Amino acid sequence: MTETLKKKLFINGKWKEAQKFTTLKSPYSGEVLAEIPAATPEEVELAIDSAYQARKAMAALPSHKRAAILEKLATLLESRKDEAAEIIAKEAAKPIKTAIGEVSRTIATYKFAAEEAKRIHGETLTMDATADGEGRIGYTVREPIGVVGAITPFNFPMNLVAHKVGPAIAAGNPIVLKPASQTPLSSLLLAELLAETDLPDGAFNLITGSGSVIGDKLVTDSRVKSISFTGSPAVGIGIRNKAGLKKVSLELGSNAAVIVDKGIDIDKIIPRCVTAAFAFQGQVCISLQRAYVHEEVYDEFVEKFSEATKGLILGDSLDPAVDVSALISAGDVERSLDWISEAKQYGAVVAAGGKSEGNILHPTVLLEVDAKLKVSCQEVFAPIVLINKVSSVEEAIDLVNDSEFGLQAGVYTDNINLALTAAEKLEVGGVIINDIPTYRVDNMPYGGVKKSGMGREGLKYAIEEMTEMKLVIFNRN
Ligand code: SIN
Repeated sequence: MTETLKKKLFINGKWKEAQKFTTLKSPYSGEVLAEIPAATPEEVELAIDSAYQARKAMAALPSHKRAAILEKLATLLESRKDEAAEIIAKEAAKPIKTAIGEVSRTIATYKFAAEEAKRIHGETLTMDATADGEGRIGYTVREPIGVVGAITPFNFPMNLVAHKVGPAIAAGNPIVLKPASQTPLSSLLLAELLAETDLPDGAFNLITGSGSVIGDKLVTDSRVKSISFTGSPAVGIGIRNKAGLKKVSLELGSNAAVIVDKGIDIDKIIPRCVTAAFAFQGQVCISLQRAYVHEEVYDEFVEKFSEATKGLILGDSLDPAVDVSALISAGDVERSLDWISEAKQYGAVVAAGGKSEGNILHPTVLLEVDAKLKVSCQEVFAPIVLINKVSSVEEAIDLVNDSEFGLQAGVYTDNINLALTAAEKLEVGGVIINDIPTYRVDNMPYGGVKKSGMGREGLKYAIEEMTEMKLVIFNRN
């Protein structure tokens, strides 16, 4: 093993040699990218203890200093943005043009976090609303919760880490970060950058390795006060069940849908919808998986969507022209092909794709898919979209709601009443009118209902999850 490939843990403000390693390979080419520390239980203990010891120093940092740390982090990342995008493109097989977009978003997320650090506040209370409150002054403050355990997914290895590290620092909390085992290199870069800021030692700890060794300890250790997790419902529910009295935020994915009403300019929306379905190979929690299209525009939508899909460029994630590269694992390609076969067996028509080359699944368009099939009712997390015909927006709303998930939904309609009905009736965390469900800017509240999770990201909202409200009453009687 060459020394340059061998990575370290980052604990208590220092790089620490690891005892065990796993080999990280490119999902696209299979090339060895690095040897990644597989943290032992002792190393996990050290990371949690360092964070716990740092909690008072973090809580004592004034908000302007927390903001300055986050601003510096954003500036440092900006200065290394090309390198950062290449890291994402290599370890996640995210097409480089999409990876560049993720780095820009990450910089914005840390800047938003810096701004939010300066406006964490409580409220004054109307104490004399009851006779027993007369002569008293009451107000609330928000205090840092303590150690935050962050468990992050492979699909946005920089920006979804930023959505946990940013608000934790903004709120004055230390963090233990466990990144996805497929994409640890982005977090190693983050550790390098944070080491150049004035963040107190122990306030950021990075431990890589197995979910069962690290995740279980983080979730059950009483020194960790808040868990922020993005990943699968099965793991999220397991965390919730084991976390006891910790605060837990879960972002657990979906089978996101778009509704297209009659009268919509199909040419205008096709590029957005194709991006929604296939950006980063559909491995986005709000990827477009189900399109419900009004019968009056259905044929045109299907024809133009399928044609645009066939025009996508497949290949190496480092090639700037490439739109779609490899799925994160060979197992995911196999699973996707199985789900497509099941759909075909039950009558679905394949309008594009349906096959694989290496770890690349061709962007796949399915028509006439029954709602009970896996490609419809489970989260595909692959470049597969179904397009079904509906006779009204109301019918489409029922179909969107016939799901265990509820993260975001998109509705294209020129009818203001239908738009308002959709906004009211859709059972999701966010309704996006006249755009795709795959819309996110990083300061908006983001999270779902049903099996899509609990709690909200978006800096202001995540900070609420990472602080405790304290009440103060002065008796002047
Ligand atoms: C996700 O996959 O949950 C994140 C989507 C995004 O930030 O755009």
